[in-house]
Amino acid sequence: MVSGGKLVVGNWKMNSSPAADGALVGQLLRSAGSFGAASAVVCPPFIAIPAVAEMVAGSPIAVGAQNVHWEEKGAFTGEISPSMLRNYSVTYAIVGHSERRALFGETDAAVARRFWAAVGASIVPILCVGESGEERNLGVQNAIVESQLRAVLRAGEAGSPGKFAVAYEPIWAIGTGKSASAADAQAMHRHLRSVVEDVFGEGIAKRTPLLYGGSVSRHGAADLFAEKDIDGALVGGASLVAGEFLAIISAAAN
Ligand code: PGA
Repeated sequence: MVSGGKLVVGNWKMNSSPAADGALVGQLLRSAGSFGAASAVVCPPFIAIPAVAEMVAGSPIAVGAQNVHWEEKGAFTGEISPSMLRNYSVTYAIVGHSERRALFGETDAAVARRFWAAVGASIVPILCVGESGEERNLGVQNAIVESQLRAVLRAGEAGSPGKFAVAYEPIWAIGTGKSASAADAQAMHRHLRSVVEDVFGEGIAKRTPLLYGGSVSRHGAADLFAEKDIDGALVGGASLVAGEFLAIISAAAN
């Protein structure tokens, strides 16, 4: 487990409106005094980031982006750069989400560029890795996830790793209501920790938060957080409902 408390990240995906965001963030802010040692991050769609950042300014809630480009500026239609995010107080960025990989063709190489650009801009990248249901049935999940992780970490060999997080998100668990069991998630997290240690050494491995994602809800959260190598959660659907997200943060705070 990393020191400094658990990290709970809400991935809003493509869900946002000024009214809904205001209501959701307002409810989170009203309970922010009870987060304890847990850290909370919300990742709205790009267009909602300035308004959300303004609402949470000075609170314990941090703002993350759902992706980040590797260049600073220029002819990259549809993309958002690290410095643009920094201008709106964004301190985290999800990279390599399985929806980006599957629906938008993002490769390990592209994910690696995004990851290291974030590190270079002092934005904490949250690198998503995870196997499909078929890969788990074949028993190759450790190899799949390890290769996704090494492809990104290796690409930064020359640079300093800085601060980053890894989110283990089995694809079969995302949005299905079927979370991995705490024991299966812990087994994968221990493997991920050993890979980070192999690449960067024990010190960095110990302080790198390893998040679990995939149908995290208020029901299974406490069991997941009780596992030694599960340092937090990346939450999709449940992060859009204030009561659900707050219950998960509260499980992380205990
Ligand atoms: P979910 O999504 O919690 O709705 O399963 C998690 C994610 O995709 O990050």
